[in-house]
Amino acid sequence: MAKYRIAWLPGDGVGVDVMDATKIVLDKIKLDAEYLHGDIGWEFWCKEGNPLPDRTAKLLKETDCALFGAITSKPKEEAQAELVPALKDKGLAYASPIVRLRQEFDLRTNKRPCKAYEGNPLNYRDNIDITVFRENTEDLYAGVEFYPLPKKLSAVMAELHKKAKRFAEMPEDEVALSCRLVTKTASRNIIRDAFEFAKANGKKSVTIVEKPNVLRETSGLFCREGRKVAQGYPGIKLEETNIDAMCMWLIKNPMDYEVLVTTNMFGDIISDLCAQLVGGLGFASSGNIGDKYAVFEPTHGSAPKYAGMNKVNPLAMMLAAKLMLEYLGENNSAERLEAAIAAVIKEGKVRTYDMGGKATTTEMAKAVADKL
Ligand code: IPM
Ligand code: MG
Repeated sequence: MAKYRIAWLPGDGVGVDVMDATKIVLDKIKLDAEYLHGDIGWEFWCKEGNPLPDRTAKLLKETDCALFGAITSKPKEEAQAELVPALKDKGLAYASPIVRLRQEFDLRTNKRPCKAYEGNPLNYRDNIDITVFRENTEDLYAGVEFYPLPKKLSAVMAELHKKAKRFAEMPEDEVALSCRLVTKTASRNIIRDAFEFAKANGKKSVTIVEKPNVLRETSGLFCREGRKVAQGYPGIKLEETNIDAMCMWLIKNPMDYEVLVTTNMFGDIISDLCAQLVGGLGFASSGNIGDKYAVFEPTHGSAPKYAGMNKVNPLAMMLAAKLMLEYLGENNSAERLEAAIAAVIKEGKVRTYDMGGKATTTEMAKAVADKL
């Protein structure tokens, strides 16, 4: 029996291309693993009304962790239109499977390293090495949303908060509401993860990215918990910044930052910004890590227009596999894989289209495999 059981979830779009490429390098590393395919993605929404079928959720429970490619998602009206006729008018609602995986498996930590590998022509500056820690289960992603806003709810809000009064007086279908829910426990957990990472990797600072001057309660709570956690790490400086200013500073002085920590929505935004600093989504990987399970994915989406063309850069997916190897405790293999990726980038002979080259996804995979 293999040492690890890994759920293999290519999804759709270019998710399939980059997963195929990553299999080439994992085979070369000779990871002692059995890969179990799971159905997930747009196809299963259209055919079954569920992009994350129960059989896949069950499969995950029988594995050590999962590698996930990408999934297409579409706005509400289009999603309804693409359901098979038998499922139309059943009132099914599309929900992003990756967001569901994060919540249903309590994958509370989203770790997103953004590193400028030497020789990458797309680096915004050299020597950028930022890791974003994004809380992965709550905030505006909690899924507590209303439209139309029920009268019952607006009445309670108006009773409890004078600023809600003007909305309560509006027609129900005038107002939509998404709740930003932030808990002390989740805040402490993600901030602690950021500090532990800083400690283990010799980083000198952890920067909270929030907006406490306006979001006084939710961002305020996050920052207060941050200060408490920071007391346990006397050698590491805690910095507190506002998300808007941080977007400017990251463009101005990206080398000043090492570890960023934030809530879900701000983390989504800032991690794309950081990805672009180091070459864009072709280089950005993401680990969704909980106490019992983890799912590793590239930060990029399914890019349907490039699907099946063997064209996109698979390095983000391979860097996600590197995070997976670390999670499994296969540190030696993780280091080898990263070194092979770094060597290919540095040499600059094999480059995919985003890097200004002509190499296919498979050629990039083979180039990395050759360095292993
Ligand atoms: C990400 C993505 C997802 C998110 C989407 C696909 C739901 O943008 O992983 O950053 O918003 O978290
Ligand atoms: Mg995103």
